[in-house]
Amino acid sequence: MQFQNFVFDSLPSTQDWAKEHVQEFDPEKIACITAEEQTKGRGRFQRKWITPKGKNICATLVFRLPSNSLHLISLGQTFTLSLAKVLIKEGLKPQIKWPNDILLSQKKLAGVLCEIVFQNENADVFLGVGVNVNPTEEEMNQIDQPATSLKVETKRTWDKNALFEKVKKQFAEDLQRFKKLGFEPFHHEFENLLAFKHQEIEVFDGVKKWKGILHSLTNDGQLNLYLPDKTIKTVLSGDITPRIE
Ligand code: BTN
Repeated sequence: MQFQNFVFDSLPSTQDWAKEHVQEFDPEKIACITAEEQTKGRGRFQRKWITPKGKNICATLVFRLPSNSLHLISLGQTFTLSLAKVLIKEGLKPQIKWPNDILLSQKKLAGVLCEIVFQNENADVFLGVGVNVNPTEEEMNQIDQPATSLKVETKRTWDKNALFEKVKKQFAEDLQRFKKLGFEPFHHEFENLLAFKHQEIEVFDGVKKWKGILHSLTNDGQLNLYLPDKTIKTVLSGDITPRIE
């Protein structure tokens, strides 16, 4: 699939702009909205997402799939894996904090926000991605959770646009496979990169906090949690925190 690019200096949020303009996009292409800065960036669970000007990858990809496509809910994970694969090719050792975060040195490097709008037989998919590329350690310390950037990890400045072009290319390939087979071809690769595997974690599924051991991933990308009563709880989506006694 080809890309239709929309490039901005500043936007409140590429995700919100994409949702407001979706009717103008070519449904045969992947629309790619990028901004040098966001003034009202948002993450999962209504959290704020800070993008200092000119330093980070800040983008939303939009495309249309049939609403009955296999494993639609795992498209965010598929994109997260595309990004992780590019980072591995760049010589880094990313881990994935299920479902959609990329960690380097146990700190957050990138996050993906996947939102799907269903309209009759179509699903419009909005994949927002933020990658901390060139902020300094001081800038990263201002974030309210342990976070890092490529510059902090590698002690060099990165060409964020060149890096994002590689991510787009990787994802366009992965999307072709996803369309045919859903998340299944990505399942093991994703599972191999999981952070906190076989460790005690808490998962907030939006309603309830579950405590257990991170057991495995289902074929369609859901998380299997081994509960203290020796049963498996499968969680569709949520937020993980490791349990430190
Ligand atoms: C998360 O980790 O909670 C997901 C963060 C997603 C941030 C990106 S930046 C580009 C796009 N526009 C937004 O407002 N959010 C996403």
